[in-house]
Amino acid sequence: MKAAIILHGGAGDWNEYNQDKAKKILEKAANIGIKILKKGGSSLDAVEKSINLLEDSGYFDCGLGSVTQNDGKIRMDAGIMDGFSLKCGSVAAIENIKNPISVARKVMEKTNHCLIVSKYATKFAVQNGFKTMKIRPKQAFKSEHSSDTVGAVAVDMKGRIAVGNSTGGVYGKMIPGRVGGSPIAGAGFYANEYAGAATTGVGESFIRTVMSKHAVDISKEKPLKNVVESALRTIKQKTGCNGGIIILNKKGNFAAHYTTKAMPWVYKKE
Ligand code: GLY
Repeated sequence: MKAAIILHGGAGDWNEYNQDKAKKILEKAANIGIKILKKGGSSLDAVEKSINLLEDSGYFDCGLGSVTQNDGKIRMDAGIMDGFSLKCGSVAAIENIKNPISVARKVMEKTNHCLIVSKYATKFAVQNGFKTMKIRPKQAFKSEHSSDTVGAVAVDMKGRIAVGNSTGGVYGKMIPGRVGGSPIAGAGFYANEYAGAATTGVGESFIRTVMSKHAVDISKEKPLKNVVESALRTIKQKTGCNGGIIILNKKGNFAAHYTTKAMPWVYKKE
């Protein structure tokens, strides 16, 4: 069984220079993931550790690069799922923690729950050994480039698929405490024994269409290229939104598609 990983840095308004820079960071993240997979490590580890690098880079809308909500606060969301067991864990509106994807994994592995929110998510993180830190708002972020959620899907040598998302949410006017699709299993991310998918864009559009689950379901019958194209066509038709999606199946086949200006992504196979 061959291992593989695909990562994206968010669908958005990237210019060529920023896209190149993003791709270089995504390459580094994918290398971390593929190194884990080559050694026989799990797809969950590959997804978590590669997303950690993106969260720490400060270059994407997640972790240290998260955008602010309209009350000036940073609240982040993340979710992770193991396709084999269908276990998942998420945090939403978590504050002052730089690696929400790792807290999401703790929710999955240490609790019987799927989603913990707001100050309770931060409290849960601290109880599980995460340090709190002030994440400085990146006010200039939007003027440099506009991106969104990061996501990753990996398959390990046992053929187990994992998927994860991490985001600072959508920039701009919104009600503080609003949560998009990124930490919602089935909407922003989903994996089963055959495939895993992660989405990026206006989270509400992926919640309304339960798009990640839908994409994974239809990937059994359709070529992956058709799956991602039809997913974003439906999003546009039903919600008027643009976005992006990546999908990877057990054989290591993949597809990536976006209807925004750009979506940097990287795929690596062992
Ligand atoms: N995709 C990020 C969000 O809607 O919050």
